[in-house]
Amino acid sequence: MINNNRRHFLKSAGISMAALSSVHIMGAQTSGGINTSKIKAALIGCGGRGTGALKNFHEAAKLLGIEVEVVAVADAFKDKVSKVAKQYNLKPNQVHAGFDAYHKVAESDAEVVLMATPPNFRPIHFAACINAGKHVFVEKPVAVDPPGARKIIEMGEVAKQKGLTVIAGTQRRHDRKYLEASAKIKEGAVGEILGGVISWNMGVLWMNSRKPGMSNAEFLARNWLNFTEMSGDHIVEQHVHQIDVANWYLGRTPKVFIGFGGCARREIAGGNQFDFFSVDMDYGDGVHIHSQCRQIAGCYNRVGEFFRGSEGEITGSRVKGKSVNIEAPQVKHSSGMIQEHVDLLCSIRGKGEPENRAKLVAEATMGAIGGRIAAYTGKVIRWTDLMDNKKSPFYNLTLSPAAISFEKGEVVMPNELPAVPGQEKKWRERG
Ligand SMILES: NC(=O)c1ccc[n+]([C@@H]2O[C@H](COP(=O)([O-])OP(=O)(O)OC[C@H]3O[C@@H](n4cnc5c(N)ncnc54)[C@H](O)[C@@H]3O)[C@@H](O)[C@H]2O)c1
Repeated sequence: MINNNRRHFLKSAGISMAALSSVHIMGAQTSGGINTSKIKAALIGCGGRGTGALKNFHEAAKLLGIEVEVVAVADAFKDKVSKVAKQYNLKPNQVHAGFDAYHKVAESDAEVVLMATPPNFRPIHFAACINAGKHVFVEKPVAVDPPGARKIIEMGEVAKQKGLTVIAGTQRRHDRKYLEASAKIKEGAVGEILGGVISWNMGVLWMNSRKPGMSNAEFLARNWLNFTEMSGDHIVEQHVHQIDVANWYLGRTPKVFIGFGGCARREIAGGNQFDFFSVDMDYGDGVHIHSQCRQIAGCYNRVGEFFRGSEGEITGSRVKGKSVNIEAPQVKHSSGMIQEHVDLLCSIRGKGEPENRAKLVAEATMGAIGGRIAAYTGKVIRWTDLMDNKKSPFYNLTLSPAAISFEKGEVVMPNELPAVPGQEKKWRERG
């Protein structure tokens, strides 16, 4: 019997009742006609994280005594998908290349699909897989514009109705130390959170230059990290993790965004992102979180979160405050990147209500998008502009080329200059 405190902790820690049923997995061969000792999995996006996620999925399955059969893999490019196909000894009819390859995964007999393409594709891939009845692991971020993030929320609701599990790659939510910190905060260890600063400051990541003969689609997909239209810019692509932690610890989303940023150092040939963002995220009730992220080499680097509480403080997962009683998080692995797959599998195979993180990861993504739009446009952006107010010019602000254009072979290069705040025409196209 689980007492109320324990139930509260498990819920607040993000571990479902389904996870508790994990014991049912071990040794059981069938449950309601489903083979519980084996799971068929597929991957869309066979790059660094996709292959890493599939490995983490295997590690998690091993911990739970579940055998994994990879039944389909998809990537925009043959060279990428072939490597994974070889690694998992797949048959040619299980290996799919092209911008429409995800349809084949949706049509496959996979029970669960892992998604790790560039984020602009996530909403259409997620919709296709949920419509096809797949459980899903989605890498963060899950969109690059407000309509995309809302699509994830909408399809997350469809997933709920279908009893499907959705787990996201916001791994701090599955990390033992962060789970413990969240539980302490909920028990009042630092009192009320009054404000904070969240950062992802580091150097520029990678860039792939355009080779002769490359189509617009290929260039953008191979150099996705450097185009806002593909990645959402680094405030969305990387800093989403910290915004997610702020939303989690505060238990709410930001209400108003005011910010600035610019492109001071980055080589802009082959990309259009900002080098830095500084955004005031107003969470209401006088709580302001300073969101800062920078990709400039040779500067002070810091990736993390700090929150000031009325009776203590939090640095990442370290809580300094009153001593409170919490139960140790129920994890099978200390790495959030493996534990997220343990939680995925426990939810799929468990007997409780399936875990569904679609809304949480979409809200973190939307928070990052709100910060970016505030910086790009120089305007005040409200959460309602992004989520509810259809009259707002930001509600339907859609980045182009859209994901579907890649399938149709209609990709027009986006503006290759970074956004200029205060210029109405430019933000309408880019914000
Ligand atoms: N949770 C984390 O800590 C973490 C870490 C790294 C990356 N990520 C996320 O994972 C995602 C992928 O990042 P990555 O580092 O693996 O990038 P990557 O470039 O190494 O891999 C992306 C793959 O997707 C393929 N692709 C592009 N468009 C596609 C399409 N339409 N259909 C199918 N395949 C397509 C590319 O060819 C490539 O193989 C991103 O959203 C990134 O933010 C998360």
